[in-house]
Amino acid sequence: MSKKVLIKTYGCQMNVYDSSRMRDVLAPLGYEETENIDSADFVILNTCHIREKASEKVYSELGRLRDMKQARAADGRDMMIAVAGCVGQAEGAEITRRNKSVDLVFGPQTYHRLPQLLKLRKESGSAVIETEFDVTDKFLDLDSKPQMATSVSAFLTIQEGCDKFCTFCVVPYTRGTEYSRPMAQIVTEAEKLAAKGVREVTLLGQNVNAYRGEGDNGPESLARLVMRLSLVNGIERIRYVTSHPRDMSDDLIEAHAQNQKLMPYLHLPVQSGNDRILKAMNRGHTAKHYLNIIERMRRQRPDMAISGDFIVGFPGETDGEFQDTLNLLREVNYAAAYSFKYSPRPGTPAAEHNDQISDDIKNQRLQRLQALITAQTSAFNASCLGKSFDVLLEKPGRMAGQLIGRSPYLQSVHLEAKGLKIGHIAKVTIKSVGPNSLSGQYISMSPTQGVPAV
Ligand code: SAH
Ligand code: SF4
Ligand code: F3S
Repeated sequence: MSKKVLIKTYGCQMNVYDSSRMRDVLAPLGYEETENIDSADFVILNTCHIREKASEKVYSELGRLRDMKQARAADGRDMMIAVAGCVGQAEGAEITRRNKSVDLVFGPQTYHRLPQLLKLRKESGSAVIETEFDVTDKFLDLDSKPQMATSVSAFLTIQEGCDKFCTFCVVPYTRGTEYSRPMAQIVTEAEKLAAKGVREVTLLGQNVNAYRGEGDNGPESLARLVMRLSLVNGIERIRYVTSHPRDMSDDLIEAHAQNQKLMPYLHLPVQSGNDRILKAMNRGHTAKHYLNIIERMRRQRPDMAISGDFIVGFPGETDGEFQDTLNLLREVNYAAAYSFKYSPRPGTPAAEHNDQISDDIKNQRLQRLQALITAQTSAFNASCLGKSFDVLLEKPGRMAGQLIGRSPYLQSVHLEAKGLKIGHIAKVTIKSVGPNSLSGQYISMSPTQGVPAV
């Protein structure tokens, strides 16, 4: 009899990838995925620890699951509850102490052992906590599992962990030190995805451009990996996320001019536009260094869309220093950006500072920053009006006969389908621009088209 698993994913794209691999690991045990909690025998929360709100959400969700589990037990039915991801890694046994209904706790590096953990849970009759680090082992194990593809655009983790230790951030503690998968392993995974109809891969890593995976003749760079992946038949688009300014090498910048499969979109977080704050954050770069990367990038690809991450209200941030962040935004002119109020995280150096900023000021700064970001995003979208570019068609639209795809710049584009299919890459002219998406008219099939759609 098939069992049902519900995986709820929080946080970044790496968690989205991990959730899809958990599904692959559970499939041979007879687990099918469900989105309906009432039919789920097993619920996995794949959690995020990055900000306080994100991790507190987990405990409130666990409270609801406990009630459900108890109600079911009264009917003689069971429900397994697991906490995976970065909260699992960071808090371990604290989770089962706070919520006794949790059966399993594991981290981002141990989910490949799910079959053994489930067995151990059954045999021991008590909660199992597994938060060791062994990334090499994880990928070797995952490689042996067939991978499902549910979309024509797929994530592919190539690098994990972080050695940068920004003073505000928990990731180096939850994901461990930087590790790069060997190039051949990644190429094989991309080939398997392509065979399932995947047309676009987004290469993932906490510091994706710090990639130094083993190739045939020693460690290779991200630029070289991209070059190799662009030879995979069926893969028409390559993206990568998230880059760090410190690892933005010349060969990667140049790859954007040379390789047409590499999409003209760069997500490059800067966090602040002020050098004193950047130093206190231990970012290892200045505002000028960051702006110089953007300038070099735009010299190679004038149409490059830039996005970034920002933190407002880092301890000790003055109004003037915040103003520097606004100035940097104006200088870069972003296509998109993500902004957050600084959230003190347990165990990180910045949380110990005694000059924390009040929530009031953080809110005010966030509002000002977001108003500027919204204006820049709208202007970027408006600049696409009348332009023509390739759109990868990813899913059905809300209206019959409509499909939704993505522009090279990651915008959603709606268009009338007219014999087009998901997986096709169509040349489209943009006819109107809304707040969150564009609408276009089909002109022709892109010459790259020809691989079966999923
Ligand atoms: N590896 C990526 C991003 C990691 S987390 C990088 O180095 O840029 C994603 C974003 O969350 C960060 O870029 C940062 O803007 C934000 N973030 C991380 N820790 C935070 C904290 N303590 N409070 C608020 N935002 C935070
Ligand atoms: Fe966190 Fe900084 Fe590492 Fe990014 S580079 S994951 S922000 S410590
Ligand atoms: Fe969150 Fe972990 Fe990603 S803390 S942002 S899920 S690496």
